[in-house]
Amino acid sequence: MSQAPPTTHDRPPAGGRADATDGVVRVEHLTKTFGAGAGAVHAVEDLSFEVRPGRVTGFLGPNGAGKTTTLRMLLGLVAPTSGTATVGGLRYDQLERPAHVVGAALEAASFHPGRTARDHLRVYAPQVGVPDSRADEVLALVGLSEVAKRRVGGFSLGMRQRLALATTLLGDPPVLLLDEPANGLDPEGIAWLRGFLRALAREGRTVLVSSHVLSEVEQTVDDVVIIARGRLVHASSLPDLARLARSRVSVVSPDGTALDALVAAQGWTVGSTSRDGDATAYELLDVAAPQVGAAAFAGRVELHRLTGHDVGLEDLFLQLTAAPGDASPAQDAPPAGASYGDAPTTHAPQGGER
Ligand SMILES: Nc1ncnc2c1ncn2[C@@H]1O[C@H](COP(=O)(O)OP(=O)(O)OP(=O)(O)O)[C@@H](O)[C@H]1O
Ligand SMILES: [Mg+2]
Repeated sequence: MSQAPPTTHDRPPAGGRADATDGVVRVEHLTKTFGAGAGAVHAVEDLSFEVRPGRVTGFLGPNGAGKTTTLRMLLGLVAPTSGTATVGGLRYDQLERPAHVVGAALEAASFHPGRTARDHLRVYAPQVGVPDSRADEVLALVGLSEVAKRRVGGFSLGMRQRLALATTLLGDPPVLLLDEPANGLDPEGIAWLRGFLRALAREGRTVLVSSHVLSEVEQTVDDVVIIARGRLVHASSLPDLARLARSRVSVVSPDGTALDALVAAQGWTVGSTSRDGDATAYELLDVAAPQVGAAAFAGRVELHRLTGHDVGLEDLFLQLTAAPGDASPAQDAPPAGASYGDAPTTHAPQGGER
């Protein structure tokens, strides 16, 4: 590996970077199985997604979904069982100066408790190939200048998170992989992180941030990649995900023919439909229960069931990631079998800034 000149961090920002990379993070058919036989853990299974520069992408899934394992494979810390994980088309071990391409903060970052924040960064600076002065620059970026000379052992969780972030920024990398960076932050810290990550994306960086709660990153991310049990369940822009979280009405009539005619006449959007003898059940979208009830009453269509659901984003996230056969965690969840088949599973074309 060539020795980096000491002033590399002074090179132009995203666009004219010395370490040419398109900043695209790509995971293709990635699979990781820990152990073998009956005790094997399928942590990641045939996972494919893409993360683009200039956007903040939320990498979401419940505990144990495989988020950290995926990030570890992107960082060359865990060898995939099969498939590939690349940044700018290269595996981590193929990057000539990885710290100038990818900055990563994995969960449970460990710091030497006796070192000051500045010393911690000064230990890493030569490894990254930047001068000591860069330590103070990144401390200022994350708002830790005032505690630069304090020992990390006395840091709060939130301060440690900021220090971990500062460490990832030493090499001024165009790609940031952050594992649960909001963990341990108070509301003010979360608001700060939100602004910070958005600013990094505005500079043209690729920002991938994991979380097990959608609501935590909802106001931060442009795109979402949602996984559960090691598999992709949804990838889209946040607005496309939000469109799935819309109001629904379940309606059942013993007179299926009459209900069919009513639905057609009203032009309601049909989410799903099922028949049982003469009876018909509909899942209608973007309509409220009182509207359906009034129209059925006026049209003399007998109803045996009429239920409205307002599916919030968090409910939708829980439904998307629930194990098959799980009791739905959302009270007003659509009935089992209600499909999200209309869910976009690929990234929408790049939209404007949110
Ligand atoms: N080194 C390992 N050996 C065996 N199993 C592992 C190993 N690392 C992870 N796993 C298992 O792989 C699965 C995915 O774990 P992972 O840490 O990637 O999930 P996660 O999405 O990051 O969860 P969390 O939200 O709790 O951080 C879990 O079942 C976990 O127990
Ligand atoms: Mg994790």
